[in-house]
Amino acid sequence: MAADQLLDGECQVWWARPDQVSDDLLLAAVPEAEQRRAGRYRQRLDRQRSLTGAWLLRTAVAAITGDRPSEVLLDRTCADCGQQHGRPRLPASVGVEVSVSHAGDRVAVALTRLGEVGVDVEFAPLPGHFDHELAENILSPRELSIVERSGDPGADFRRLWVRKEALLKATGHGLRMPMSRIEVSPAADPPALVAWPLDIPVDQVRLATLDPGPRHHAAVAVLTGATMTVRELDAALLL
Ligand SMILES: CC(C)(COP(=O)(O)OP(=O)(O)OC[C@H]1O[C@@H](n2cnc3c(N)ncnc32)[C@H](O)[C@@H]1OP(=O)(O)O)[C@@H](O)C(=O)NCCC(=O)NCCS
Repeated sequence: MAADQLLDGECQVWWARPDQVSDDLLLAAVPEAEQRRAGRYRQRLDRQRSLTGAWLLRTAVAAITGDRPSEVLLDRTCADCGQQHGRPRLPASVGVEVSVSHAGDRVAVALTRLGEVGVDVEFAPLPGHFDHELAENILSPRELSIVERSGDPGADFRRLWVRKEALLKATGHGLRMPMSRIEVSPAADPPALVAWPLDIPVDQVRLATLDPGPRHHAAVAVLTGATMTVRELDAALLL
């Protein structure tokens, strides 16, 4: 199956490293306004991750639509202030929803025709470490008590964290909604939404765990009641 086919029931997740793409390719694919946008990140590595995400998004979409990456129409209007730093969206006529995430050595782009999508990757700088204070803010009391009793609380916490953040990126809320108001399945169980304060029924949401490699955790969420298959692909196929 060609990497550039996006099948109806699938969610494609493309993976890149922030140093995978030459500056020449990045700058040729990402319009100047988006290059300036990446400049709002203060750290050089954050800028590189954001720029690589913009490249990967445009290049993966272009592989489907046949456009040139630099000509893909993207709207990033922020729902709060109207500036171009919100969730990326393609014109409705394309019929593809997208999401971007970057952390550590990984940049992810998710694409699907199934419904609104959110992807999240987190990096564990100290793999065995469990940040209890952070976990209290992100987990519900029930989730926290299960994680605390686990053999590897740090890893289990991150497994739940990426599920929740992927969900909130799919809805577009992002961190505007406290993650502790969402309940997801325990880390050892298949990923699923258990409860949240939104009108969307939990059976109209699909969650999947992704494989970003060592010291990273990642998940993807799609607002759909349909069966979903996830296909993870390396950006090398787009170079
Ligand atoms: C979306 C959000 C959760 C991402 O947080 P993060 O863990 O730091 O970053 P990630 O790497 O996972 O995702 C970043 C990407 O999410 C996308 N994004 C931004 N806002 C988004 C939203 N509301 N919903 C979904 N995706 C969003 C962008 O593509 C961004 O990448 P880019 O800036 O390089 O283009 C966070 O930025 C957020 O909560 N934003 C909404 C609240 C806000 O900041 N409002 C602005 C008030 S003016």
